[in-house]
Amino acid sequence: MKVKSPIGVFDLLPGLLASDPWKRVELWQAVEQEIRSLCRIYGFGEVRTPVFECTELFQKGTGEGTDIVTKEMYNFEDLGGRSMTLRPEGTPPLARAFLEHGVQNQGLPQKFFYIAPMFRYERPQAGRYRQHHQFGAEVIGGSTPDQDAELIDLLTTLYRRLGLKNVSIVLNSLGGAEARQAFRKALLDFLAPHREKLSADSQKRMDQNPLRVLDSKDPADQAIVAHAPSILDFLDQESADHFAELRRILDRSKIPYEVSPRLVRGLDYYNRTVFEAVCRSGSGPSASLGGGGRYDGLLHLLGGADLPATGFGTGLERIIQTMIAHESPFLQKLPSHAPDLLLIALGEEARLRCLDLLGELRRAGIAASMDFANKKLGKAMRYANSSGAKYVMVVGDTELSHEEVKMKEMATGEERSVRWDQLSSGQWLKG
Ligand code: HAM
Repeated sequence: MKVKSPIGVFDLLPGLLASDPWKRVELWQAVEQEIRSLCRIYGFGEVRTPVFECTELFQKGTGEGTDIVTKEMYNFEDLGGRSMTLRPEGTPPLARAFLEHGVQNQGLPQKFFYIAPMFRYERPQAGRYRQHHQFGAEVIGGSTPDQDAELIDLLTTLYRRLGLKNVSIVLNSLGGAEARQAFRKALLDFLAPHREKLSADSQKRMDQNPLRVLDSKDPADQAIVAHAPSILDFLDQESADHFAELRRILDRSKIPYEVSPRLVRGLDYYNRTVFEAVCRSGSGPSASLGGGGRYDGLLHLLGGADLPATGFGTGLERIIQTMIAHESPFLQKLPSHAPDLLLIALGEEARLRCLDLLGELRRAGIAASMDFANKKLGKAMRYANSSGAKYVMVVGDTELSHEEVKMKEMATGEERSVRWDQLSSGQWLKG
């Protein structure tokens, strides 16, 4: 029996070998390149943390009551009997690495990004995978609303550059711990008489983390919470000022957003600013494209200095699927992995001459390949066609005895002659 990939994961392959357009590796490479170039412009440095961490990091960091920790983590015991977890999200590992390397002594704030796989045991469905990939940006040591605005600007700029349409930012403030405590009580008072009418999930959340009832996707729950008190009426003065200033900066920068007092996000570490990017165009996956917010208490909770922090994570699968649904112009300029020139040698002498040439072309930086299987001409041309090579050059006895060799442009079928000693100059590639 053939061994298949596990449920909820996927492979990326080059070009037409990919089973779906969004699984083309060139597309991922181009998106990653765009992210890296934007991060350079915005001053974020890359961090790569391990794929697995001690389970405790996520229990403490992501939060004991969260969906991720209670039901979605890939935990395993290593051979030394320690409990390990495949990284379900990037924020606690980034905070751990920051503390472990004493980065707080290097001047603050520090701005980081990562592009990394994340693992969550979720029910697989469109846009939801058991291994997904996130571009995350995190800033440690910046407390001002300008810092939150810079992140939202980076995120929306990325979406725009990738050709995504109708993305809006949903924004809220969760205030400080005291404000949340007071709101929690008011919310519970409001929900209590409706308890029986709420979904089973929301009833459970009422006991564990009532704010998450606001997040419920169940239409009956949504109808009830539409009348719930608003957390924005409970904000402490400092948080209210912080939120007002953030809105002012976003308005000034003409970054569209909408305020939703029901946005709470599903992770325990957030305080003050929270936001989500959603796509309203109706095509492509409907779930959020990205989300983030402030986590001013997380570093202290992990045993480090009490430093403010803020960040976001956005899923590459959802971005790329939305790009395809929106027919992003970005898709037109994908690089190809196919060779510029494919050499086909007919006969032993031609083979040796082509091998030398192959080395020369490659040293000159030209993407060249050779058909090593020594196929017959017809078969070799069929292979050349499917390889996607731009040009094909067939070398037989005639070509060996001439100063020039013929090269065929596969897209047009046009042939042209190039001198042997001009081949590695690459001039012929330019037109
Ligand atoms: P999150 O909202 O759990 O936040 O995930 C961020 C993004 O990752 C989501 O908006 C979505 O695009 C993508 N995503 C999450 N789960 C899946 C899945 N199963 N399949 C496909 N895509 C998925 C975080 O992880 C936080 N660490 C974000 C953050 C950074 N907050 C502050 N700093």
